Amino acid sequence: MLDIQKIRADFPILSEKVNGKPLVYFDNGATSQKPQIVIDAIATYYQEINANIHRGVHTLSQLATDAYEISRVKIQHHINAKFSHEVLFTSGTTHGINLVTNGFASILKPGDEVVVSSLEHHSNIVPWQMLCEKTGATLKVIPMNENGELIMEAFDALLSEKTKVVTVNHISNALGIINPIKYIIEKAHAVGAAVLIDGAQAVPHLKPDVQDLDCDFYAFSGHKMCGPTGTGILYGKEEWLNKLPPYQGGGEMIKEVTFEKTTYADLPHKFEAGTPNIAGGIVLGTAVDYLNNIGFENIQKQEEALLEHATKRLLEIEGLKIYGTGKNKASVVSFNIDGIHPYDIGSIIDKLGIAVRTGHHCAQPIMNFFCIPGTIRASFSFYNTIEEIDVMVEAVKKAKTMLS
Ligand code: ALA
Repeated sequence: MLDIQKIRADFPILSEKVNGKPLVYFDNGATSQKPQIVIDAIATYYQEINANIHRGVHTLSQLATDAYEISRVKIQHHINAKFSHEVLFTSGTTHGINLVTNGFASILKPGDEVVVSSLEHHSNIVPWQMLCEKTGATLKVIPMNENGELIMEAFDALLSEKTKVVTVNHISNALGIINPIKYIIEKAHAVGAAVLIDGAQAVPHLKPDVQDLDCDFYAFSGHKMCGPTGTGILYGKEEWLNKLPPYQGGGEMIKEVTFEKTTYADLPHKFEAGTPNIAGGIVLGTAVDYLNNIGFENIQKQEEALLEHATKRLLEIEGLKIYGTGKNKASVVSFNIDGIHPYDIGSIIDKLGIAVRTGHHCAQPIMNFFCIPGTIRASFSFYNTIEEIDVMVEAVKKAKTMLS
């Protein structure tokens, strides 16, 4: 088992007080906290090797370029991509998804279909709606059941030769449900559709193997996996990245520019216009190392224990309902108490030092399905403890008494 107290000591913010109380940070689905090694690596970059990359012959530029490219290879190995040029640095999951939808604008035709799921975050709905508006393609939605699970028979029935893209999240941000993405990818490929997986909520909990999954694209953010904000990765299969047009034009993404014609650089540079978040990209590699040193098996064991305890303890509260009761779940509990607005509970427990997210979690269709304005979402990380869950449960009970 992990020595949680030792791990917690790596995260300076976890010993902070908020509103005079020890911080209980259960908003990991929104962003994770950062270990000292990540915080230090940002300063070290600026103190020792700050320079622009891929541009200069001078030593610092080469050092920065090497560090950036080493990080790319590290991430390639982490997700088991076949080539490092299939790993694109982005500013986050949203950027990665928009890069792909922009590319498909020149591929889709009226009558084509895009399949999304009813469990998506807005960032994996809106870009596809914009794409459909632009191209005349039609958006189809995989429905869910009362447990928050996608209905696979309905998914099967949606697929046809018209389906050109299927996209789902690996793990739902609002409910924590883990989707059967291997099945979805296989079925989508059988009708010739490309598949994009939104891995934003998965990468803090597991190590995706993109070759084993056989997905065409896998997008994720660095800041949810102990890395800096403004960092992310879009994995794309080489053949797809070669097929898609560039997302943004600018420096570093070209082979040759004349006023008559521009030719584009090879992968990955074709998709990395402009000066990137160099420090962020390098330090994302540090975060990936940190997580791998802890070990994803250990992370999962700790998070499963937290999920089990939180589910059991919260259900002791009368009138409390958990949304997302499917079997395969990450360490997220989304809940409400009868007759009380989630915002009110969130505000009261914040005064007690407890950070949770309240609201629709950028997943309004899920809230509409359950006919609720939102939920209280506690999302746990490996550095959280059973004792912290008990503190939250007592705080929720107190809030309930105050608001009833
Ligand atoms: N997508 C993030 C969340 O679920 C911000 O909170």
